[in-house]
Amino acid sequence: MEKKLIYFDNAATSHPKPEGVIRAMNHFLKEVGANPGRSGHRLSIEAGRIIYEAREGVSQLFGVRDSSRVIFGLNATEAINQGLKGLLRPGDHVITSSMEHNSVMRPLRGLEKEGLEVTVIPCSPEGFLDPEDVNKSIRRATRMVILNHGSNVVGTLQPLSDVGEICQQHGILFFVDAAQTAGAIPIDLGRQKIDLPAFTGHKALFGPQGTGGLIIAERVDEKKLVPLKRGGTGSRSESEEQPDFLPFREAHSGPPPPQLGLRGLPAHPLGAKGNDPQPPGRGRGEDRRDIPFTKQKNLVSS
Ligand SMILES: Cc1ncc(COP(=O)(O)O)c(C=O)c1O
Repeated sequence: MEKKLIYFDNAATSHPKPEGVIRAMNHFLKEVGANPGRSGHRLSIEAGRIIYEAREGVSQLFGVRDSSRVIFGLNATEAINQGLKGLLRPGDHVITSSMEHNSVMRPLRGLEKEGLEVTVIPCSPEGFLDPEDVNKSIRRATRMVILNHGSNVVGTLQPLSDVGEICQQHGILFFVDAAQTAGAIPIDLGRQKIDLPAFTGHKALFGPQGTGGLIIAERVDEKKLVPLKRGGTGSRSESEEQPDFLPFREAHSGPPPPQLGLRGLPAHPLGAKGNDPQPPGRGRGEDRRDIPFTKQKNLVSS
């Protein structure tokens, strides 16, 4: 009798990938194979078109109007490191929860040694965060709240809309680790007031490992994002400085991130809006030091 594999590890990585993803990758590797944006020949233009389509697909999934704000990369880990190291400065205060993945906690603990202040809000025994605890933890130097949307350990979902509302009222960046939820649970940047979602391609987006990205919402000034990796982008090649515009604030090379499994996915309409906004709190100071972590010794990854 033929033995069928039943795979129960989709939260680690989805398997097997849908036929459409395999076909798209096969097509790229066999029929396209060129680097996007580097040349004017047909295959390079086709590679550029594929990456553009993937970027548009991700934008649709997250409710992003301008798809150039999607930065593709290797995985959620890289995207989280980009957002944290690229936007936080010594002296800044960050609020997070006790339900975070190590791809959030380890960069935060590393940055703490360089002068970042971190508050970890304990969640309930069931794994839920109380948005009021976020409100109470906000200080003058609070620059960002970063939360794991869907727990990789117990599966709890955090109240993004409520926390997003609090962040917006205080002028604080709201960073969401959507590694477990992108593609599985509706996420809408505008309605949930998310500034920076990090996603992975290899879980519920059914793409291959080695894909993921960070979205920089329009509210975030991309010029303040210090790149984690500088290098070729296929744009402004005459300049030795990394472009200060998206999506080239971070270096890209190699083939486009394969389809991310997005072509076949139905659109995810966001369900009901979250709870009512929290009451406004005190404003935030603008007196933070302006030395990016990526300029600190031992923190630059490339
Ligand atoms: C909640 C959460 N965040 C981040 C990650 C890291 O994702 P990636 O493998 O894309 O780096 C994972 C992976 O398991 C995860 O579950």
